[in-house]
Amino acid sequence: MKKLMAANWKMYKTAAEARETAAALAVALDGKLSADREVLVFPPFTAIHAAAEAFAGKNGLSLGGQDVYPEDEGAFTGEISAPMLKDASCEFILTGHSERRHVMGEDNEFVGRKTAYAIASGMKVVLCIGEKIEEREAGSLEAVLEEQLVAGLAGVSRDVDPERVAVAYEPVWAIGTGKVAGPEDIVEAHAFTRAKLVEMFGEKGKEIRILYGGSVKPANASEIITLDNVDGVLVGGASLQADSFSSIVLA
Ligand code: PGA
Repeated sequence: MKKLMAANWKMYKTAAEARETAAALAVALDGKLSADREVLVFPPFTAIHAAAEAFAGKNGLSLGGQDVYPEDEGAFTGEISAPMLKDASCEFILTGHSERRHVMGEDNEFVGRKTAYAIASGMKVVLCIGEKIEEREAGSLEAVLEEQLVAGLAGVSRDVDPERVAVAYEPVWAIGTGKVAGPEDIVEAHAFTRAKLVEMFGEKGKEIRILYGGSVKPANASEIITLDNVDGVLVGGASLQADSFSSIVLA
């Protein structure tokens, strides 16, 4: 299973900035990316084309959309569909990011519809899950993760190619805060997630990649990536510069 090293650029970068960072990333990784690592960047929608031009012809580098609306087209002002993302060179779609859940107010059911739609549209998905600090402190970590996994993957065919599904465990309190979950916290949450995936998908659940996200940086990436059941990382802040993200990818 290849480790998936993903960058979430959130609402940062114009097309020109994205082109420059993506091109610098391709140069920094040229000839260095091992065969067991895969790189994925989620630019803002308006910068996907520019990043795609910079990645053209490079192996192991792919692109994704940060969100999707679960219809191919229609009167859904401001939204974007899977065929549009595919047309813009995306292979992946990110669903259920904590900012979508907690800033934009998306609930589990809506995240599940988006995830099922993205898979049914032939795309690959990274579904984000993660607890808020008050949920962790109240002892509901497992209940929250279970609810987000069950609802998030409810409409995904049990016959799906497991390479097309990834889950990112991102504790909300560790996103953009500089607070990284400790190794035991990560191992515990990933083991729980793995067990749930096996319960839901049988043997295939062992091949679904589980990424960690939340204040991943060059300084902590090599420790995190070797933990049990950590099959990749999802990086926000430290992915915005090519040198810092490339050192995470090569960690
Ligand atoms: P961060 O963001 O690396 O800036 O904490 C991670 C994410 O939101 O995916």
